[in-house]
Amino acid sequence: MTKKLLVIANWKMNPDSPGRAVRLAKEVEKGLRGVKNVSVVIAPPYPFLESAGRALKRAKLGAQDLFWQNVGPYTGEVSWRQLKHLKVKYVILGHSERRIHLGETDQVINKKIKAAIKAGFIPVLAVGEQKRMSNKKMHRALLRQLSGDLAGVSARAFRKGVIAYEPVWAIGTGLSATPRHAKKALGMIKEILAGLWKTKKVSTPVLYGGSVKAGNAAAFVSTKGGAMQGMLVGGASLKPKEFIGIVRNSSSINVK
Ligand code: PGA
Repeated sequence: MTKKLLVIANWKMNPDSPGRAVRLAKEVEKGLRGVKNVSVVIAPPYPFLESAGRALKRAKLGAQDLFWQNVGPYTGEVSWRQLKHLKVKYVILGHSERRIHLGETDQVINKKIKAAIKAGFIPVLAVGEQKRMSNKKMHRALLRQLSGDLAGVSARAFRKGVIAYEPVWAIGTGLSATPRHAKKALGMIKEILAGLWKTKKVSTPVLYGGSVKAGNAAAFVSTKGGAMQGMLVGGASLKPKEFIGIVRNSSSINVK
């Protein structure tokens, strides 16, 4: 039995109006008809979570962040408690754009992961090296992020959690990593998690993210290619045809 693949649309700070967001959600929904082996998650920006979320039936709703307190004097933040009312199921945490532009540290991400788990959301923890580097340095970078972000989080607590491997140099550049590189990262991530959790078998799904398109998606999930368990998609998730292409091309690979 193969596990279902997971494809997550990270809309980031797009589109620019609620009308466009709802239209995009509806078009994606329509394209998912008949898709069987892939679970799809759409993560719109906060102001469109409710309206775009209402248009989703087959796809699940995701948020792009959360704050760890439930209510209180935290100007500009949105808490897990507030997201609970919006049908949110998944939360992307630790995205490199938040680490880089908002200065999010592994300690902050760790608090968010714990809050997401407590709230019953599925955390999607994004990690990845900044630039192209040697295997040794890449392993060190992944170890630093994973051990900081998951400090005090047991394998049991993270049993529904997902890791998204996103090399920063491949995000939004059009230059995706090779499936071979993704597979190497997958091996490192599984080995690091096994070490952190002192277990031999790590069943946490690992997704690939970074310039995924309809044309390269299948290679990341095929067992002969990247062998990843799905993808986190940015730019291409804003183009319904392209995004549906990603979902459909990877679903046909997974049919056994
Ligand atoms: P991209 O973004 O698909 O536009 O490269 C991926 C991401 O940042 O999640």
